[in-house]
Amino acid sequence: MTDPKAKTIDTLLSEIRTFIPPAEFVAQANVADPAIYASANEDWQGWWASWAEKLQWDRKWDTVLNWNLPYAEWFVGGKLNASVQCLDRHVAAGNGERIAFYFEGEQGDTRELTYSQVLRNVCRIANGLKSLGVNKGDRVAIYMPMVPELAMTLLACARIGAIFSVVFAGFSPTSLKDRIQDQTAKLVICADGCWRRGKVLDLKTVVNEAVAACDSVTNVVVLRRGGGCTSAAPATARDVEWNDVFANQADTCTPLAMDSEDPLFILYTSGTTGKPKGIVHTTGGYLTAALATTKLVFDLKEEKDVYWCTADIGWITGHTYIVFGPMANGATQVIYEGAPDFPHQDRFWALIEKYKVSIFYTAPTAIRAFMKWGEEHPAKHDLSTLRLLGSVGEPINPEAWVWYLHHIGGGKCPIVDTWWQTETGAIMITPLPGITTTVPGSATTPFPGIEAKLIQEDGSEVIGAGGGYLALTRPWPSMLRGLWGDNKRYEETYWSRFPGKYFAGDGAKRDENNFLWILGRVDDVMNVSGHRLSTMEIESSLVAHPSVAEAAVVGVAHEMKGQAPIGFVILRHGYVASPQLEQELRAFVGTEIGGLARPERITFTPELPKTRSGKIMRRLLRDIAEGKEIGDVTTLADPNVLKGLQAEFVKHD
Ligand code: PRX
Repeated sequence: MTDPKAKTIDTLLSEIRTFIPPAEFVAQANVADPAIYASANEDWQGWWASWAEKLQWDRKWDTVLNWNLPYAEWFVGGKLNASVQCLDRHVAAGNGERIAFYFEGEQGDTRELTYSQVLRNVCRIANGLKSLGVNKGDRVAIYMPMVPELAMTLLACARIGAIFSVVFAGFSPTSLKDRIQDQTAKLVICADGCWRRGKVLDLKTVVNEAVAACDSVTNVVVLRRGGGCTSAAPATARDVEWNDVFANQADTCTPLAMDSEDPLFILYTSGTTGKPKGIVHTTGGYLTAALATTKLVFDLKEEKDVYWCTADIGWITGHTYIVFGPMANGATQVIYEGAPDFPHQDRFWALIEKYKVSIFYTAPTAIRAFMKWGEEHPAKHDLSTLRLLGSVGEPINPEAWVWYLHHIGGGKCPIVDTWWQTETGAIMITPLPGITTTVPGSATTPFPGIEAKLIQEDGSEVIGAGGGYLALTRPWPSMLRGLWGDNKRYEETYWSRFPGKYFAGDGAKRDENNFLWILGRVDDVMNVSGHRLSTMEIESSLVAHPSVAEAAVVGVAHEMKGQAPIGFVILRHGYVASPQLEQELRAFVGTEIGGLARPERITFTPELPKTRSGKIMRRLLRDIAEGKEIGDVTTLADPNVLKGLQAEFVKHD
């Protein structure tokens, strides 16, 4: 037998058309009977209530759902506290000594925290928050790196009923200021710095600049990251030290019984306008969906799995699938502070080996980077503890999917490609790993109890195979309850395009087997000579070429065709940019998808402009390609990338 690791992507793609859950996996799976879909659909409110019952309520709800379109209330009249679900009940059940977090700093410093220790710390922080005058309903803005204190701060806010709002610790001072001002936060909690690729990121300087214009903020709590991390920022009058306010507090704190519909957090996400939207999530419904999806989608066995989601807690994935989902289930997880390629490109694989990670959840953009770096890095490590892989955040191209399965999952781990959004709060479309025969590139079917439909321009429903706008047509417990301070925008953005249906902003197609394929944001869908084309589809095709590591495609205004696709390509190691290669790639797409999809031109580049969460900012590429003034770049990870790209683009002309 040939060494399977030596197989090319093309061979893998031709061999792996579908993935049937292995018998060994099915035998132990949390869900092994497909009848779950029919029974959940038949009584979807009852299905969600059965999950809510697994939580610990101070008062049981009177009504499962009040649906006053587009406003939902779940588990109405019920009372509970989110931190109790994640901590107290595990300790009370005798699992206090279970590890909650294996923390690893980028520099190699490590800490282990049990559920009991986390509970005590959370109580100290909660008591400290109260001592600073934080009350139920007050907003607390959090600007912290991936350290355990971040997760504990969220839980402490939840314990006293404060509404937390995490701002990813990579956002600019202006973005942070805008978010603090929008929610009129009373308190800001930050760290002085953190490690990223061997360098100290000075967070406090950003916070100082941001809060200077925020009158609502009474105090800024500063956690000292330690281990050589320092900040150049001076202390200000509102600053208090983390240790001074939290360390000496009592380690018990009575949790506040919150109404099921009390807000738990606000999380800002970008919309189609320049102003970010403050997505509001509430307590009972959010926790119910977080609990259920974590347990079933990741097939979690909390008593033995080691789970690792590589997202940052600054994004919704970290909220639901690091803090609330895994912790409500009592899981043991890895938290890693830094970059995947520091000090070497095998850091993730070394961590999986070290902590014996069994469930690994990451994003396609990361997987494509791993592909570019080469399979020799994972091959150096024992990854045999892995039993399930997840993907989130963008469509995963089949090449990345088969690479992931083969080189990380040893050919045996089911992959769950999970579609959802900040707004949905929890996973909506996904395989269930013990029963779904997956196909590379498809997120497959809605989670039990969720109803998704494809809608045409005129509002009619696509029946059977075909493409359309993705809409969720039934309320679900973790749905956003609105936008902070802007219900009009909530109604317009999500509920006006197809009245009565939640418009997700994504295009999708359904195949003959009833599987859904997410095509990407509809703002990234172009219309070439009257035909709809997905930028993602063309990108996927480019990436299928052996020379291409990563590709971005945008639809650019075109005199004759309306729009034309333009490609930006990062070559794999060992390939050299040339006009011949450009022609070859254009022709390649033409043959893969059709002449219509052939990019008008392709620019080779060493980098693409990305947000700090790794999403390619196609809007900026479009600006470059259309020769426009470049729009807002505040969310870019590295604004310098643009200058180089622009120069490359102009040189090509
Ligand atoms: O376009 C979809 C894409 O990410 C968008 C939501 O982004 P955000 O709110 O930042 O949340 C990301 C993490 C949940 C969606 O509208 N998206 C997310 N997951 C997938 C996806 N696209 C395709 N496949 C996915 N699995």
